[in-house]
Amino acid sequence: MRKKVVAGNWKCNTTLHEGVELAKAVDKLISEKGAADVVVVLGTPFTHLTSVVGAIDTKRIGVASQNCAAEAKGAFTGEVSAAMVKSTGSQYVILGHSERREYYGETSEILNKKLALALENGLTPIYCCGEPLNIRNAGTQVEYVINQLEETIFQLSEEDFKKLVIAYEPIWAIGTGVTATTEQAQEMHKSIRDAIADKFGAEVADEMSLLYGGSCNAKNANELFANPDVDGGLIGGASLKADDFIQIINAY
Ligand code: 13P
Repeated sequence: MRKKVVAGNWKCNTTLHEGVELAKAVDKLISEKGAADVVVVLGTPFTHLTSVVGAIDTKRIGVASQNCAAEAKGAFTGEVSAAMVKSTGSQYVILGHSERREYYGETSEILNKKLALALENGLTPIYCCGEPLNIRNAGTQVEYVINQLEETIFQLSEEDFKKLVIAYEPIWAIGTGVTATTEQAQEMHKSIRDAIADKFGAEVADEMSLLYGGSCNAKNANELFANPDVDGGLIGGASLKADDFIQIINAY
């Protein structure tokens, strides 16, 4: 059965204390209101991982880092390896976010190294893809996104590919308050699922969780999640408020 996943991406927000309080508030709301059959993940800064893991019920909520190093270990000042993330008790790592690609020059080659290390260390990558506005305006968004997948996760073995969660995040919708329409989200998610079916077969495609990200909030989650190929969300701004985040979780 395909899993529904709602993951928060806190980005570079919250001090350690604020982050732990936010995680505890989400944990408390889930214990009170439930999360139906939704897998909930909190994507925190590296500095918060251990404390957040310790502050919540990790059977109910998973924890993700927002990145990991492209090298296993060694003289790479400032980097945090996949093994280090795993050692905090975290289970997920967000990879390929457009902000990492755009501001930190992450190429498909770098992402392939990160994917391999994440998988070797037993982390579940939440792999992001998505097109910029000029590509959307040119109408070539599907080719653009499928190419991102072909250069990276479509190179994995079927066994490894099946471990991933994929997030479609149109860059023009991230942090802008502009959300993809449900038709735009469904069109892309269906195209991604069809491409997966071509590459790995219909059964694998049917099992993959495809999340939508980009100004998804408590008001629009319901409509977005109603699409047959949208299996949840990767939530930025709205994941920083426990009340909003729980509403998104319960939008199913
Ligand atoms: P917003 O929800 O703030 O638009 O961010 C989306 C995102 O980038 C999640 O990874």
